[in-house]
Amino acid sequence: MDCTFGGGGHAKAILEKLSSKGKLLVFDQDEDAKKNLPDDPRIIFIQHNYRYIQRFLRLYNIQVVDGILADLGVSSHQFDEPERGFSYRFDAPMDMRMDQRQTLTAFDVVNSYSEQQLHKIFEQYGEVTNAKTLAKIITEVRNTTSLKTIDSFRNAVRGVVKGNPNKYFAQVFQALRIEVNDETGALVEMLQQIPELLKPGGRVAIITFHSIEDRLVKNFFRRGTFDEPEINPFINNEWVNELKVITKKPVLPDEKEMKQNSRSRSAKLRIAEKIMMV
Ligand SMILES: C[S@@+](CC[C@H](N)C(=O)[O-])C[C@H]1O[C@@H](n2cnc3c(N)ncnc32)[C@H](O)[C@@H]1O
Repeated sequence: MDCTFGGGGHAKAILEKLSSKGKLLVFDQDEDAKKNLPDDPRIIFIQHNYRYIQRFLRLYNIQVVDGILADLGVSSHQFDEPERGFSYRFDAPMDMRMDQRQTLTAFDVVNSYSEQQLHKIFEQYGEVTNAKTLAKIITEVRNTTSLKTIDSFRNAVRGVVKGNPNKYFAQVFQALRIEVNDETGALVEMLQQIPELLKPGGRVAIITFHSIEDRLVKNFFRRGTFDEPEINPFINNEWVNELKVITKKPVLPDEKEMKQNSRSRSAKLRIAEKIMMV
């Protein structure tokens, strides 16, 4: 199962290893990804959010799978398509939805979220150094200026940009994109379904691009849960983690890969395996 089909690069590599009887289920909530589907009867495309992974497996009458891959975030195609609004490099509507059926856009976030909410988003998802000042200026300017387009947004906040403007806007746009697509919420829900979906000995591999995502994956692989174990002196509190960590440290791209694909720079791959119960 490839939860993030995108341009289909990983799916193609999986199909090369798959037998003629194998099946590859691929998710992508972006309709545009469909254009990259290979003509291959082994592949099943599901144009939905991977937070519903179990629901769709049931629909296809599949109980368990051998492997689950997720390569999080946005695809190069999405970044480079000006009208999707993901990149600060082009003027376009403040959109940033991966799934065009969704109503919430980046414009709604900057136009309707409170100063505190914006502050939190820019700080947590973008690590923007002056997140509080940025949130304040947005809530002030939006009373008199429309922030519907990327140029209008950039011009409105120009006065508070700190350091290299490209780096600054990359962080701001990353934060907005994570919020618009509820990327951390979807990741948490997907991770929670994994232990039940993997066959014993099956593996899950996740590539993250942000410290919040990486921390979620690392902790979940280590503990197999986000819940705190119940502290009750009358029951055995030992938590059974059905996952075993395969990569003690994340796998990082080497020099060659970073040269070929500069977007791989912040990628971290972590792998876990469903343990065989005795
Ligand atoms: C980094 S790209 C994947 C690239 C892909 N591995 C390849 O080889 O081309 C991430 C893709 O996952 C999709 N995506 C991100 N979050 C998703 C979610 N919660 N549910 C479904 N698809 C998602 C995006 O639309 C995007 O196309």
